[in-house]
Amino acid sequence: MVSRVIPVEPFDLVVFGGTGDLSQRKILPGLYRRFWAGQIPADSMIIGAARSEMDDAGFRDLARAAIMEFVAEDKRDPEMIEAFLARLGYVAIDAKGTGGWAELKKRVRKDVVQAFYFSVAPSLFGDLAQRLHDHKIADANSRIVVEKPFGRDLESAKALNAGLAKHFNEAQIYRIDHYLGKETVQNLMAVRFANILFEPLWKSEYIDHVQITVAETVSVDGRGAYYDKSGAMRDMVQNHMMQLLCLIAMEPPYHFDPDAVRDEKLKVIRALDPVPADDIVRGQYLAGNGQGGYLEHAEDAASKTESYIAMKVHISNWRWKGTPFYLRTGKRLRARASEIAITFREPPHSIFDDAEGWRENVLVIRLQPNEGMNLMVMIKEPGPGGMRLTQVPLDMSFAEALGEDGADIPDAYERLIMDVIRGNQTLFMRGDEVEAAWAWTDPIIQGWEKRGDKPKGYDAGSSGPEDALMLMHRDGRRWREIRE
Ligand code: BG6
Repeated sequence: MVSRVIPVEPFDLVVFGGTGDLSQRKILPGLYRRFWAGQIPADSMIIGAARSEMDDAGFRDLARAAIMEFVAEDKRDPEMIEAFLARLGYVAIDAKGTGGWAELKKRVRKDVVQAFYFSVAPSLFGDLAQRLHDHKIADANSRIVVEKPFGRDLESAKALNAGLAKHFNEAQIYRIDHYLGKETVQNLMAVRFANILFEPLWKSEYIDHVQITVAETVSVDGRGAYYDKSGAMRDMVQNHMMQLLCLIAMEPPYHFDPDAVRDEKLKVIRALDPVPADDIVRGQYLAGNGQGGYLEHAEDAASKTESYIAMKVHISNWRWKGTPFYLRTGKRLRARASEIAITFREPPHSIFDDAEGWRENVLVIRLQPNEGMNLMVMIKEPGPGGMRLTQVPLDMSFAEALGEDGADIPDAYERLIMDVIRGNQTLFMRGDEVEAAWAWTDPIIQGWEKRGDKPKGYDAGSSGPEDALMLMHRDGRRWREIRE
């Protein structure tokens, strides 16, 4: 199988915050990889814009270092790197003042696709939008790209949306949730809507429950100042986990089209029930394995912010009434493993006597690592000993099934930035989606704050707090083991 690379139109992409961490780790290396793959036309320009005084050559040096650090060796072709760097420029800019804007205006061409990536603190979104407008740099065809955190509650998200809406319409705004750029996350839609096999069973009549797990081994060391003001709920659940939940639960859109898909996701978010305090477990990792605990990594040594959360969520609509969705995510857990597991119900009647051997069918979609699918099915245990049943996996690794193409999956940012240039918003969050997600999240967080709830400690390298096990046990269910 040969993957098709269709070049995008020539573009000018301005990266505000171009010298920052995200730019160095993801944006510049991602753009280079797309250039290497032949997707970026040679007459495109990437302009870094940030506060530091620097010239084009300085920015190219920074980009070269980022490529050497974050691009795999087999793609680091010196000629390619130099050709890519020749497309780079830099303008020192004052986001809140006038410095640099006239220069930027000179650099950005009018006859190519224009995109402005706001890789900066959200408090600057409004300022940048205003100046792009005032200096007549952006026009009705320009696109702007913003990153999370998109607000920290409904009110602040509304203010950010309003700040952008002053000068840009919704069709110009690309709100990134990098989970939507992950190949396997997009695969959720392919699996559901390109196969007849699953859809007839995709409802509470046949599905007992769904588990969505995003487990990480990393701590928050080094980003405690940001994380402590967010916690797992704001950092992961309100956005990434919510998107996964939507893709699993939504109705089939009439077409794979931005608003058709986003309309269906929005309906899921709006159908989410409020979550009672008893259906949520929050945790904080403790010191262990020679590393500090959450309270040492956070800014506030008495912090009540959670680095782990497990919760039971209900969707009140015809399809899902009666099927709980269990979500869990956390830092410093025993393995880095993200998956969605759909557990089906028992057959209505068993013709076999071997009740003991029977297990539910489970469809597991592994998001990372070892991307793939696994369907647990019942078969006869081999041998002459009567009709005994046993469960076996129909296991597929995407990398194995797809050969070379499967092994070389582009990073989420590569896909998303190319979608911005193509003008395709399907994998970006719409303003109303983000607001609906905060409207559901806000009362949960307010409840913790009002009650002064403290997260439970959990051992570093474990599966999370004991109480999370109880959340499942009391429903007669079990979490799947967290493992790579
Ligand atoms: C980010 C969160 O959005 O996603 C991080 O801020 C988290 O806390 C990261 O570690 C997880 O992304 P990925 O792609 O590594 O699963």
